[in-house]
Amino acid sequence: MPTNTHPFTPEMKECPFPRYDEWREDAPLVWSPEVEAWLVTSYEEAKAILANHQVFSSSNSVFGGPALEHPEFPSMINRDEPDHRRLRALVSKAFTPRTIEEAWEPRIRQVVEELVDGVLARGDGRLDIVRDVAYPLPVKIIAEIIGVPPERFEQFKTWSNEIVSRIGRVPEHGYRSMEQAAEAAEEALAEREHHRDDAEAPGGGPDESIFAYFAQEVEMRRAQPRDDLVTRLVQAEVDGRQLDLPELVSFLVLLLVAGNETTTNLMNHSVRAMAEHPELQQRVRDQPELMEKLLEEALRWESPIQGFYRRARQDIEVGGVQVKTGDALLVLFGAANRDPEKYECPADFDLERFDGQTGTRDHLAFGYGIHYCLGANLARMEARIAMQTVLTRLGELRSVEGQRVEWWDAPFFRSPKAYVVTYQPRA
Ligand code: HEM
Repeated sequence: MPTNTHPFTPEMKECPFPRYDEWREDAPLVWSPEVEAWLVTSYEEAKAILANHQVFSSSNSVFGGPALEHPEFPSMINRDEPDHRRLRALVSKAFTPRTIEEAWEPRIRQVVEELVDGVLARGDGRLDIVRDVAYPLPVKIIAEIIGVPPERFEQFKTWSNEIVSRIGRVPEHGYRSMEQAAEAAEEALAEREHHRDDAEAPGGGPDESIFAYFAQEVEMRRAQPRDDLVTRLVQAEVDGRQLDLPELVSFLVLLLVAGNETTTNLMNHSVRAMAEHPELQQRVRDQPELMEKLLEEALRWESPIQGFYRRARQDIEVGGVQVKTGDALLVLFGAANRDPEKYECPADFDLERFDGQTGTRDHLAFGYGIHYCLGANLARMEARIAMQTVLTRLGELRSVEGQRVEWWDAPFFRSPKAYVVTYQPRA
């Protein structure tokens, strides 16, 4: 039995992979007293658990191991069937991945060009991919998709960071309940009503919660529909049922958080791979169609979300281990994607794994089964456009000698705080 089994310590943030290997070599599922959950590190078992949603509930997916009372967060990511199916069907009416991609590609290109203009204008020959591109791009795009005004973008990122660094902390989970959010929204609306003709009417100060903000937006769209995502969500209907206020707010919060830190990290890891492997960078430059493979391999190599939880609804044997009803399991996508039984020499960054149909595209970075990521293609599109633009406009990317990557202390996420490369425009 391995000694240290906490998957989210600062030491693990430095480099979790040797420890994942140690756990996997011990057994495909190892009990962690620190997080009170089974750690799932083998690809086969991880995939089987994600596929078996009848037995493995998602009710604790983003909350954690111990059977504490989870706050009411009626979001599809932590709901089971049939509730999950209803929520996903309703949301898919307004947030259809294909429509979103078609509608947003030109805007993504424009934002990326502006961000790269900023880097070139600075003229210091350095790119911090986190600060300069990967951090601002996804938050701007998702905020615009939701219909948040530009002056709120900074606030948005602060809210998103706050949630990202809190979720998954055991045992303090720290969500405000939806009930509180609805109350706060009502108060804010009443306050606004009171100041109806007042230019100084409160529009949310630093203490406003994201839940209250979205609840207000929802109520305002009910009163005055617009041509935007929130209105479409408010109006979406399946079998005569619509989303209620807590469900709407939960989905908007999920969109904000799910679409941000994760996409940022995909770009960070992709740039790191290219900067550390000049021959790889050259290949992608010569054959731009390889970018798709590069992104898939980056998702496998350094999965932006390292893992989420499940809870067993019945006694069941998995990988030779007896799991009891109520036990939590932390499915480590990041470890499964480095399982040598599945991927030969998993630490190597290897474009050849991808054969167009199977290969690395069967990695678990976007999950598997009914909760498979709703924004996967949006994330891929943002990253593809950003990486191609950076390569074309900035030229040769080289990692800075002796750079030590510092990792953000956010339980589920694999997030460098900064990653600096030098660039050399090509003749
Ligand atoms: C590289 C970027 C991303 C990664 C690695 C990622 C990863 C994941 C993973 C692993 C899950 C499955 C959770 C589970 O099984 O418990 C998931 C679900 C989800 N993701 Fe993403 N995601 C990314 C980008 C996005 C974006 C851009 C959006 C939306 C704008 C998004 C929205 C969602 C939603 C709504 C779900 C819940 C789906 C459901 O429960 O049915 N994600 N994501």
